[in-house]
Amino acid sequence: MALNPADGKATLTFSDGTPSLDLPLYKGTIGPDVIDIRALYGKTGKFTYDPGFLSTASCNSTITYIDGDKGELLYRGYPIEQLATKCDYLETCYLLLFGELPNAEQKADFVGRVTKHTMVNEQMQFFLRGFRRDAHPMAVMTGLVGALSAFYPDSMNLNDPWQREVSAIRLIAKMPTLVAMAYKYTIGQPYMYPRNELSYAGNFMRMMFATPCEDYKPNDVLVRAIDRIFILHADHEQNASTSTVRLCASSGTNPFAAIAAGVACLWGPAHGGANEACLNMLYDIQKAGGVAKIGEFISQVKDKNSTVKLMGFGHRVYKNYDPRAKLMRETCHEVLGELGLHDDPLFKLAMSLEKIALEDDYFVSRKLYPNVDYYSGIVQKAIGIPVPLFTAVFALARTVGWIAQLNEMIADPEYKIGRPRQLFVGSRHRDVKPIAQR
Ligand code: SDX
Repeated sequence: MALNPADGKATLTFSDGTPSLDLPLYKGTIGPDVIDIRALYGKTGKFTYDPGFLSTASCNSTITYIDGDKGELLYRGYPIEQLATKCDYLETCYLLLFGELPNAEQKADFVGRVTKHTMVNEQMQFFLRGFRRDAHPMAVMTGLVGALSAFYPDSMNLNDPWQREVSAIRLIAKMPTLVAMAYKYTIGQPYMYPRNELSYAGNFMRMMFATPCEDYKPNDVLVRAIDRIFILHADHEQNASTSTVRLCASSGTNPFAAIAAGVACLWGPAHGGANEACLNMLYDIQKAGGVAKIGEFISQVKDKNSTVKLMGFGHRVYKNYDPRAKLMRETCHEVLGELGLHDDPLFKLAMSLEKIALEDDYFVSRKLYPNVDYYSGIVQKAIGIPVPLFTAVFALARTVGWIAQLNEMIADPEYKIGRPRQLFVGSRHRDVKPIAQR
């Protein structure tokens, strides 16, 4: 949204004779102020420099606020702890998309609209056949979500609010179906069609684990757990994949292509791929000897010459405990309890590793705490979700956040196509020599 009149100014002075420059300063509702540098290049011929965007606000937003020092996460002002325990995922989707929690009538209408869009075009199954059965589910998902662009010509125009809303409903509704299809394809089982009498999370569990050979009754505790996992992953301010979606959509491409770009970015182990990497890390420590080998592993992590990281730990914004990690650990307890897996060795190993890390100065001094990915793999594995599918589940849940952020950008009258500049440190002008002289 257009910013209000400036709340103050910042004055830049230069040592190279460039005249000093006053730049507007804006205050948010909460959180750090921003210095508006949009006029900087035009007035000074200079760029700012911030690879990785550690000190750069790419936009103003009303959707999600993170206080990294307090370990606080708010969706539209509501604490994640309250949403995760008092709401379900589709209520949270409504909140992220429209700014307010739905009343009973609004919720029923929204749930009805999503439910009616859960099937995918029958042609989608033929895309899967092009993949090897052992393809990584995120390769499949990147392809399938992008392929949706070919099926919905009536909801491709990002600049039409109604088409944006229709594509949002379609994407939220179809992601569980596509993730379940990606899973069924890898295990050679037939796809299960969605059932309209089931809840969003219940439908996902049935499409994942049911077969045509017998009735399937979703376990309510597991359904609640997966619904909570969706809520915890729904949005997270301007993270890498959300920034990817915003930048991609800023060219005016269609919503399905922009969300496919988000899926591709989320795949990386530094981002959404961390839950898969974290569980594989725990497996490796388990195989090497379990709790007795934690000290050796931590030494590797601290060794600057090794590239070993404690996956599921650390965060660009959280310099305190990620509130989602706390909720995920509680969900772990509930699910393992329900399944009689109190003594799950991986969960016990994860808790021992967390305790040791949080008492080690290497992590304490760098303010490295568990993030959302540290426990999510353990609870998903207990639910029966295979490790390679963890990030696809993350993408399913994050789709609504990507869409809400995309919508906010497109609705901002000030938005322009994103086009960063650079500090050029390469060769000056030079002429091509004939190959005989090179
Ligand atoms: C997600 O942005 C989001 O909001 C993302 C996310 C979302 O919901 O969208 O929250 C989801 O992606 C969570 C993060 C999942 N990634 C991981 O768990 C992978 C492991 N974590 C790291 O790779 C790292 O912590 C990042 C990428 C998450 C953050 O990295 P930063 O902010 O760029 O910090 P950094 O790499 O500069 O680290 C600072 C120091 C370095 O040590 P020194 O150079 O100062 O000696 O901390 C060290 C790093 O080596 N460090 C770690 C570490 N994370 C940082 N050392 C060991 N293990 C780690 N996990």
